[in-house]
Amino acid sequence: MIRIKELFYPYIMIWLSRALLLLSSFMIIREDCAQEDCIKGTCNIEQTCEKESERETMSASKPSSAVMLYEPLSFLKPFNQEERSFTVAGHLIHIHQMWQELGVAAVVWDAAIVLTEYLERQVSAGRLVMKDKKIIELGAGTGLVSMASAILGGNTTSTDREDTLQILKKNIEANLEDDLSSFRDLLTVQKLDWGENLDVFQEPFDLILGADIIYIEETFEKLLATIRHLSTRATRLLLSCRIRYDRDLRFLEMLRQFYEVKKVHKDRQRGIDIYRATLL
Ligand SMILES: C[S@@+](CC[C@H](N)C(=O)[O-])C[C@H]1O[C@@H](n2cnc3c(N)ncnc32)[C@H](O)[C@@H]1O
Repeated sequence: MIRIKELFYPYIMIWLSRALLLLSSFMIIREDCAQEDCIKGTCNIEQTCEKESERETMSASKPSSAVMLYEPLSFLKPFNQEERSFTVAGHLIHIHQMWQELGVAAVVWDAAIVLTEYLERQVSAGRLVMKDKKIIELGAGTGLVSMASAILGGNTTSTDREDTLQILKKNIEANLEDDLSSFRDLLTVQKLDWGENLDVFQEPFDLILGADIIYIEETFEKLLATIRHLSTRATRLLLSCRIRYDRDLRFLEMLRQFYEVKKVHKDRQRGIDIYRATLL
């Protein structure tokens, strides 16, 4: 009997480890799918792309899906926090996140943090003037970048889709009633579904901001049409991107048909690049 047990022991262990592996990858796919609720069914938003072409953005420090297999929940931790706080030019911004309820639009993405830091640095170094400029943020999510833009002096319109306005308004209102009360006149929230009712926005903007808004290929045409509608030759576009798939790069190619596009900042650790674009 013991002999038979010993004989089967290695096979039992192999099957057990296979079952565990299968179970953990199933858990990851489920987490990613939850995260992707508003990305129309495509999974693995954080998954590393396979091709490295034009992709220094995917630095070695960026977690790959293989790493996630062993630490499946580590990258979700900040998303699960209900409250996050950021300081911009000495002003505290509190962000309420609703990951479980509202998904991707209701959490602060690294691209927003990197863009916020970039704007603050550029303004304080005198390389960028935001004061009294007309600024619009597309796909603002929880509103971190928009609030930073107002703190840095920009007359800022924070926009997103109808179903995301709830969390955007909630966050901006809460901050305006608190530490950011002096910026009330500089910040408005408006619905903007890319490509829809663009006539509402008549005047061109000096600066268009976008953090992590290149991720649904079906929206690329409409996003481009929106950017073109909002800009003139004097407009500058700053896009903070985590390029996850080759298809994301296609948006930059589309943009290059009309704009001069330059990578102006790279955050290797967080795998985020900032692109600046001006009309050709
Ligand atoms: C990954 S989230 C980024 C949110 C925020 N910018 C950040 O970085 O924390 C993408 C944002 O794009 C918005 N978005 C997606 N498709 C959109 C569309 N067709 N029109 C307007 N906004 C859209 C989502 O609602 C969401 O707020």
